[in-house]
Amino acid sequence: MKLLLLGSGGREHALAWKIAQSPKIEKLYIAPGNAGTQEVGENVAIKADDFEAIGRFVLDNQIDMLVVGPEDPLVKGIYDFFKSNKELKDIAIIGPSKAGATLEGSKEFAKKFMQRHHIPTAGYKSITTANLEEGLAFLETLQAPYVLKADGLCAGKGVLILPTLEEARKELKEMLGGMFGNASATVVIEEFLSGIECSVFVLTDGKHYKILPEAKDYKRIGEGDKGLNTGGMGSVSPVPFANKEWMKKVDDRIIRPTIEGLAEEGIDYKGFIFFGLINVKGEPMVIEYNARMGDPETESVMLRIKSDLVDLFEGVANGNLNEKTLEIDPRSAVCVMLVSGGYPEAYEKGFTITGIEEAKAGGSIVFHSGTTLKDTQIVTSGGRVIAVSSYGANKDEALKQSFTNAGKIHFEKKYFRSDIGFDL
Ligand code: AMP
Ligand code: GLY
Repeated sequence: MKLLLLGSGGREHALAWKIAQSPKIEKLYIAPGNAGTQEVGENVAIKADDFEAIGRFVLDNQIDMLVVGPEDPLVKGIYDFFKSNKELKDIAIIGPSKAGATLEGSKEFAKKFMQRHHIPTAGYKSITTANLEEGLAFLETLQAPYVLKADGLCAGKGVLILPTLEEARKELKEMLGGMFGNASATVVIEEFLSGIECSVFVLTDGKHYKILPEAKDYKRIGEGDKGLNTGGMGSVSPVPFANKEWMKKVDDRIIRPTIEGLAEEGIDYKGFIFFGLINVKGEPMVIEYNARMGDPETESVMLRIKSDLVDLFEGVANGNLNEKTLEIDPRSAVCVMLVSGGYPEAYEKGFTITGIEEAKAGGSIVFHSGTTLKDTQIVTSGGRVIAVSSYGANKDEALKQSFTNAGKIHFEKKYFRSDIGFDL
């Protein structure tokens, strides 16, 4: 089959790497892709949210399946755009409808959905300028620290965790006043949950589902989980506390009620669901939903899927995912992210990258995140630049290999965390 994958990050390179291994693939295109995805497919210069151009490309090139990597096109409704077009409606799409993607696109919607389906999550109140006083009163009832979330998509920047009531009151007013534009016209105030986080991924056809390997990501820029939040500095799979007993709780209390809830509410959902969970004294609770895979979790998780991912995608599209098998590699897989100096604040781009072949020769799988080709040179083009992924008999062995190979890749002002996995 001919498959078009949308997106341009490390997640998409890892997905493309796995998809390209399928014997079912005759041709893989990535739009827009990066300098790494072109090693396993053909990049197409179309933006992931240019629906008209994507639709035209799909028809002109007889694409059979569209796989959506990032949240933006999903939340903007690419699924609905295809389904409402006579010529495009029969193309298989891996990704939920606009209504389904609202689980990620609106924090308030996600909270209400969890409430309706009795899914464990932090207590909350949803606030606009119309009920600001109620918000300020709710803050008084909570303990520090205070969690404020912009309702809409903010590229991972819309959550503030504030140490004092005074700051929480001030920031609430600023968020409602347009700190994140329209995305923070509604703010969700949440009770703070304390525990270790874990990302759980599910592939669903809307009725049946498969639980993919879980992973933990490391969001802070500094070692010891200090400093600013980033898109993610590395990941580890499996997560030791996500044992059989814990995962059964996750399945019974969170995953199944979510899939059944979506079906009951008539929401079309054929794709990935990313459950951002937190382990509160042994009990899993939901921090957030995402309508896609995680980045940099995908750069570990894809290594652990032994089965043909495209065969699983066919099960999703055809509604017979229950007839497919998901075989998981028992080894550990990890990823260490190399980033541009200065990230997640201002940083420079355009530096030449060397040593990728040496890192591969050292046994790692190198996924490009923010890279591009300038003439024939691979240069940096983003904050997160390269993910160095490795297998190991255990996480320490895998990490050792990734750290060693991370040291072989060079670009000006390169930085990476050498303590990924430290807390597990
Ligand atoms: P989110 O975008 O909802 O995943 O939030 C970003 C990060 O903020 C999460 O990964 C958590 O580390 C933290 N966070 C969000 N909500 C809470 C909460 N209720 N309690 C504690 N930490 C939270
Ligand atoms: N790694 C977190 C995310 O993809 O949102």
